[in-house]
Amino acid sequence: MRFLATLGVLSWSAAQTLAAYNLVQSFSGSNFFEGWDFFDGFDNTTNGDVNFLSEADADASKLTFVNDAGRAIIKVDNTTFVPFNLKRNSVSPRL
Ligand SMILES: *[C@@H]1O[C@H](CO)[C@@H](O)[C@H](O)[C@H]1NC(C)=O
Ligand SMILES: *[C@@H]1O[C@H](CO)[C@@H](O)[C@H](O)[C@H]1NC(C)=O
Repeated sequence: MRFLATLGVLSWSAAQTLAAYNLVQSFSGSNFFEGWDFFDGFDNTTNGDVNFLSEADADASKLTFVNDAGRAIIKVDNTTFVPFNLKRNSVSPRL
């Protein structure tokens, strides 16, 4: 009984906390990537061994997509052979 009373207080607190926030943006399903900024090009602040793709190129390369199950996929390019000293394509979607 004491456990149930404690659980009741916790549930009430959680509800109070949730009420303090309003949903301002939602990303889901087939529109998941709408509204993201895709950093495009070479990032000279990190000097990494990657070249970031635009949203169109990321989509065309299937590095970002929404699969048939409605899940957003962000993946690495694990199929392209990249010669020594060249940069692998990658994605950097940002909000
Ligand atoms: C990175 O590139 C930007 C845009 O070309 C340039 O303004 C900036 O000075 C560069 N930063 C470094 C650290 O090279
Ligand atoms: C690349 O990654 C995908 C997703 O994890 C996997 O299904 C596939 O087998 C991988 N391909 C190679 C060549 O490792």
